[in-house]
Amino acid sequence: MSETKLGQTRADIASMIRVNQAGEYGAAQIYKGQLAVMGDHAPQSSEIHHMAEQEQRHLDAFDQMITERGVRPTILQPFWKMAGYALGATTAAMGPRAAMACTAAVETEIDKHYQEQLDTLQAESEPELTSKIAEFREEELEHKATAIASGAEDTPGYPVLSAAIRLGCRVAIGLSKRI
Ligand SMILES: [Fe+2]
Ligand SMILES: [Fe+2]
Repeated sequence: MSETKLGQTRADIASMIRVNQAGEYGAAQIYKGQLAVMGDHAPQSSEIHHMAEQEQRHLDAFDQMITERGVRPTILQPFWKMAGYALGATTAAMGPRAAMACTAAVETEIDKHYQEQLDTLQAESEPELTSKIAEFREEELEHKATAIASGAEDTPGYPVLSAAIRLGCRVAIGLSKRI
């Protein structure tokens, strides 16, 4: 067992649940913003609907853990609501490939984030949290694969757009762990 695992406290677990709930909330908002702009009849709409449904399931699971364990949600909830929706709406307005570039960028960071948690979590003492994160991470990777298959990387200015979104995600994740 690593030192990190031995040092894992209740506060560490609460922080994980807090940031995950925030991230899933933000993800659900991104797709809401994208669908508001694209409508239900764009070629990508059904894929985005499918991803949105999965994000809602992820969010429901962390909402439940927040309630059951009495974890304080992030005070940045209003920020995630606005920033997620704006990011979704803006990228969708740039075009369907930009919308997919947004998903690819976000899921790249979420994958890293969930993998880091899986590396630190003690599965024996946190079986539910561990299995949910593992399951959701798989679905985030599917979202990323869908986005890339839908032409995310062909969007004009992809490297800059992707780097900006990824940086935003890392900042938001870092903040929501603590506040
Ligand atoms: Fe998710
Ligand atoms: Fe996702």
